[in-house]
Amino acid sequence: MITNSSCESTVKIMDTLKSLIYLSSCFVFLFICISNALDNGLALTPPMGWLTWERFRCNTDCDNDPDNCISEKLIKVMADRLVADGYRDVGYKYIIIDDCWLAPERDNITKQLEPDPKRFPNGIKHLADYVHSKGLLLGIYEDFGTKTCAGYPGSEFFLMHDANTFASWEVDYVKFDVCNSDPKDFAAAMSFYLNQTGRPMVYSCEWPLGEYARGIKVDYAAVKKVCNLWRNYGDITDSWESVKNILGYYAINPGNFSNFAGPGGWNDPDMLVIGNFGLSKDEQKVQMGMWSIMASPLIMSNDLRTIDNFSKSLLQNKRLIAINQDSLGIQGTLFNTLGQLQVWKKPILPKGSYVIAIIHTADDGRPTKASFHPSEFGLTDSDGYRVTELFDGNSVGTYKPDTLFKISVNPHGIVMYAFIPVTDNKLYLL
Ligand SMILES: *[C@@H]1O[C@H](CO)[C@@H](O)[C@H](O)[C@H]1NC(C)=O
Ligand SMILES: *[C@@H]1O[C@H](CO)[C@@H](O)[C@H](O)[C@H]1NC(C)=O
Ligand SMILES: *[C@@H]1O[C@H](CO)[C@@H](O)[C@H](O)[C@H]1NC(C)=O
Ligand SMILES: *[C@@H]1O[C@H](CO)[C@@H](O)[C@H](O)[C@H]1NC(C)=O
Repeated sequence: MITNSSCESTVKIMDTLKSLIYLSSCFVFLFICISNALDNGLALTPPMGWLTWERFRCNTDCDNDPDNCISEKLIKVMADRLVADGYRDVGYKYIIIDDCWLAPERDNITKQLEPDPKRFPNGIKHLADYVHSKGLLLGIYEDFGTKTCAGYPGSEFFLMHDANTFASWEVDYVKFDVCNSDPKDFAAAMSFYLNQTGRPMVYSCEWPLGEYARGIKVDYAAVKKVCNLWRNYGDITDSWESVKNILGYYAINPGNFSNFAGPGGWNDPDMLVIGNFGLSKDEQKVQMGMWSIMASPLIMSNDLRTIDNFSKSLLQNKRLIAINQDSLGIQGTLFNTLGQLQVWKKPILPKGSYVIAIIHTADDGRPTKASFHPSEFGLTDSDGYRVTELFDGNSVGTYKPDTLFKISVNPHGIVMYAFIPVTDNKLYLL
């Protein structure tokens, strides 16, 4: 998306040399434009949607558990709920089938991937048509290796074939895993083949996670060139421990990976588990607030048929979604600490505005009280800021850089405020 002069000249050189370049050497050129994101016109803000994995796992037992097995039926039911319950209209557009949709073997003759015929009796194109008719987009899962993580046929040796299959089914989003593979070279190759289909498909990578797991330093510039979003830490589970660990990694921000987030490419801390079994109300607010401030993809994995009103309205909080989707696309980072509290900060529009989130990740019996001056967090506009609390949308008044700001943060809790210069009278968010 972002162009700069060195890239433009690279493109010119590429044009001149085009006829001489073999397919394989294209990848060398892909890595030259340091600031560029994958140029497929997609994911200009963090993708939002719903995905099967964390909540429904690899449940293939449709005989005994017909309502919860990975099947056409489950995807259609969730697509219906995304629309009927208002999720689509606040931005959750992608419905993504994770592992365990495949038949145990490729077609013997054509070698094409086939969905499990019993669980997806009408095939994936039919499901894509259904999802599209609802104003939603369809995502699917594969793996670079010989087999997927759950042991279904992988894409190794079939990357081009599978990219073409996904395009022919009118898939809109492809999540590529790294089990049973050496992922490094393949991420770029699959990106190339997806591009060659001519169908824009969001490309979700687990490549950096594969490197993280092997202790290899991640080259985020290279990742951003070929992926729209990329996992860089372990799988989330339905627990505070897991959310806290992910936040810990994003707080450390190894190699300043936050700098690589932006329109077209995003760090992916994994699914929203809000509305499941493991998180308290405060912990759910921490996840939603932090995924918003970190410009993270908002991909839910939960049961929309049974979700309670608290979780549903948290997931549909328009102020938090607006912060997540802010078109500057800057990933918020840990800015400072306030005793045992962490202070995170994200620049948003209008210019000069910031979101401040203050979280309490430690265990304690009671809320922690604290205070600060906005100037301590770099909020130095001498005209002051209009401040809005973001979970409920209440205005909390006008603050100058040296006005004392008092807060109280629950254990495993969060408070979150937008600071917008009083000189800006546009109401972008609120
Ligand atoms: C393929 O890549 C080219 C060059 O980066 C880009 O202009 C085009 O939009 C891409 N097409 C798709 C379908 O991703
Ligand atoms: C496909 O080939 C495998 C191995 O050769 C065989 O076991 C299987 O029965 C074949 N499947 C079909 C549908 O022909
Ligand atoms: C990350 O950014 C900080 C502050 O901007 C800088 O001091 C540090 O050297 C950077 N680290 C890396 C690995 O780029
Ligand atoms: C949830 O909200 C709906 C509509 O807003 C309402 O009808 C329903 O009673 C609420 N359920 C609970 C358990 O509060």
